[in-house]
Amino acid sequence: MIGPALFGWLHGADFYRATHAEAVALLPTGQGRTWLDVGCGPGLVARLAAARGYTARGVDAAPGMIRKARRIARAHGPAIEYTIATLDSLPAASADVVSAGPGAGDPVHVCA
Ligand SMILES: C[S@@+](CC[C@H](N)C(=O)[O-])C[C@H]1O[C@@H](n2cnc3c(N)ncnc32)[C@H](O)[C@@H]1O
Repeated sequence: MIGPALFGWLHGADFYRATHAEAVALLPTGQGRTWLDVGCGPGLVARLAAARGYTARGVDAAPGMIRKARRIARAHGPAIEYTIATLDSLPAASADVVSAGPGAGDPVHVCA
């Protein structure tokens, strides 16, 4: 499994950020609608969604990823709720948009 340290590097890579930003930009602006990123890693998609006007949340099975996502959110805002959870134990709250890229190297899948 890909670790938080490698992900820190990946998040800084232009191609990685650009690919995810393009995926998020395919959807209309959020205007307060909700977005859940499943397998959020250190939280890039959730941050991009929040920047596009969504109330974003992220869940990830790996506690280290959630710690890193929370650290980045604290340092750079905006406020995003990150929770440890797996695909089969998601929080009960619904979301207008759900994205998931739970396998390392998988593309981002978005359902709206
Ligand atoms: C490719 S990363 C996702 C990237 C992330 N969306 C971002 O914004 O950078 C895959 C993440 O999925 C998580 N993951 C893998 N299997 C999972 C599962 N069954 N439930 C929840 N998270 C999972 C991994 O811990 C890893 O952090």
